[in-house]
Amino acid sequence: MKAGHDITVVDNFFTGVKANVEHWIGHANFELIHQDIVNPLFVEVDEIYHLASPASPPHYMFNPVKTIKTNTIGTINMLGLAKRVGAKVLIASTSEVYGDPEVHPQPETYWGHVNPIGPRACYDEGKRVSETLSYAYAKHEKVSVRVARIFNTHGPRMHMNDGRVVSNFILQALRNEPITVYGSGKQTRSFQFVSDLVDGLIALMESNYTQPVNLGNPTEHTINEFAKIIKDLVGGESQIISKSAVEDDPQRRKPDITRAMTYLNWKPKVGLKEGLKMTINYFKEELRKSQNKTQ
Ligand SMILES: NC(=O)c1ccc[n+]([C@@H]2O[C@H](COP(=O)([O-])OP(=O)(O)OC[C@H]3O[C@@H](n4cnc5c(N)ncnc54)[C@H](O)[C@@H]3O)[C@@H](O)[C@H]2O)c1
Repeated sequence: MKAGHDITVVDNFFTGVKANVEHWIGHANFELIHQDIVNPLFVEVDEIYHLASPASPPHYMFNPVKTIKTNTIGTINMLGLAKRVGAKVLIASTSEVYGDPEVHPQPETYWGHVNPIGPRACYDEGKRVSETLSYAYAKHEKVSVRVARIFNTHGPRMHMNDGRVVSNFILQALRNEPITVYGSGKQTRSFQFVSDLVDGLIALMESNYTQPVNLGNPTEHTINEFAKIIKDLVGGESQIISKSAVEDDPQRRKPDITRAMTYLNWKPKVGLKEGLKMTINYFKEELRKSQNKTQ
């Protein structure tokens, strides 16, 4: 909107909250539509960022059939809309399309290692079909598609109770509760800060590059290291404890971002600790607000 665009946000508020966009309500270029994208949408637009989907395991496992519908019927609706109005469409895919990868780091040419009937399949396979649909519409309907394979992202306005590692560790550390590591803690992840992702999504939309592109921060740490980093940044008395491993938890995760660097001239700018400090401050402020409400 600061660049002069008119923006229409479409959300069914399954995991999203109106408070995240309330500072835009009333702005002349802003519109908010409460709608589920599993139902057809009729609007006039030039570009579609199709980000709608539950994103964390507890949210996407809450109703697996609905997760599949959002990523298949919902994606067909977004691609159909793009076809009707001649818009470009960017699909938010995920590093989960690589499953528990046998190739490390993961380049976009890797086809993945996904369990099609495991607990994460509704999301992983849903996103894989979403990609397949995008290229079917590109080939047969001449829709201009962009596919972003997003790796773990965090930042202010994320869902505090999404059950993912960053939010779990920060909340536990801020509440002086034990920090729970599932499995050996030797599994690795790499976390990017939300502003880097947004820059990458816009660069991808504006580029002429139509193959999938990884967007993530390649700085890789074990979960044990993350627990220690977050505990040190937050301070407090939390102990780091182990719990049994989660089914189908990927063991290694690190994006190969050569494509994004080559075709989008993009790479992450925000360092791990710098980004985590901003997310921790957001969590602190939200906890303070909710404590004030209950007093
Ligand atoms: N955050 C990450 O680490 C990450 C990693 C990989 C991919 N992604 C993808 O990026 C996108 C955004 O994720 P996020 O982390 O911002 O999650 P989020 O939960 O904050 O945002 C997703 C939004 O989609 C909405 N939504 C869900 N189902 C819908 C439906 N049927 N109709 C309309 N709206 C619906 C939710 O209410 C929410 O506002 C998702 O597609 C997700 O799969 C995120």
